[in-house]
Amino acid sequence: MDAGVTPTEEARVKLAVRGATKYYDTKSGPLHALDNYSMDVNEGEFTCVVGPSGCGKTTLLWSVAGLHSLTSGDVLLDGEHVRGPHPQIGMVFQEANLLPWRNLTRNIQLPFEIKRRQTDQEHIDHLLERVGLAGFGNKFPRELSGGMQQRAAIVRALSFNPSVLLMDEPFGALDAFTRDEMNLLVEEIWLETRKTIVFITHNITEAVFLSDRVFVMSARPGRLAKVFDISFPRPRSLDLLATREVFELVNEIKAEIQHTPSAATAAAALEMADG
Ligand SMILES: Nc1ncnc2c1ncn2[C@@H]1O[C@H](COP(=O)(O)OP(=O)(O)OP(=O)(O)O)[C@@H](O)[C@H]1O
Ligand SMILES: [Mg+2]
Repeated sequence: MDAGVTPTEEARVKLAVRGATKYYDTKSGPLHALDNYSMDVNEGEFTCVVGPSGCGKTTLLWSVAGLHSLTSGDVLLDGEHVRGPHPQIGMVFQEANLLPWRNLTRNIQLPFEIKRRQTDQEHIDHLLERVGLAGFGNKFPRELSGGMQQRAAIVRALSFNPSVLLMDEPFGALDAFTRDEMNLLVEEIWLETRKTIVFITHNITEAVFLSDRVFVMSARPGRLAKVFDISFPRPRSLDLLATREVFELVNEIKAEIQHTPSAATAAAALEMADG
């Protein structure tokens, strides 16, 4: 299995995950979460990672973000090893993770305070306007809907102007209509900024709508099972989701997920076959 490299000459690899393997230490012994997972993400590319629950997607993203270390393997950004949180890598988590006692502006400023860096308020105001939150800076998280909170989390992640944006099921908790709205917004922002994006989702339709390529992970321990190229023209409209082409592609990806055994199951099957 290759690392999912698109064979275009001009594509430049921005982010490379090489042989990522992760064992967690648990009370009942080591837990094998990620197994020899590799992916290359080209500069400015929008990729999604999908796979069954618990297969190691968050584990992968945390490693890419430098939030925890791999047992073996490497993460390279522009060819340099990522060994800890990196200013060029922004992250949006499943929960918006806004502090309830800080208003929106002060939540967005928090990472700047932690790093003792000057806030770029002009940039933050522009981003707030861009996501439809202009004038909401003095509101507290409890005064905002789930969709608005995630918009704020996106602003927080983009406020540093990172070149890579990692998103871990950011819209998993939103209703279907709000999710559609957010997907349109994310595509718009991506078309404007051409960030390199790795987006994790359970929702295959969302992955097809957003991606240039979809990386499918096997059940735990997560391995790269297959890469799908998604070549629908952009900007994409929600009408695309009602087409037969998308329907068939979504079913093909779902079948891949359902039929890819975990490495452990595959090894057991091989052992049985060997007698
Ligand atoms: N800090 C941890 N310590 C021990 N085990 C962990 C830890 N974090 C995750 N795991 C285990 O590692 C495996 C992979 O977890 P991970 O959260 O990466 O999966 P996921 O694909 O993101 O799942 P989901 O789709 O449900 O979010 C799971 O079995 C999980 O229980
Ligand atoms: Mg997860």
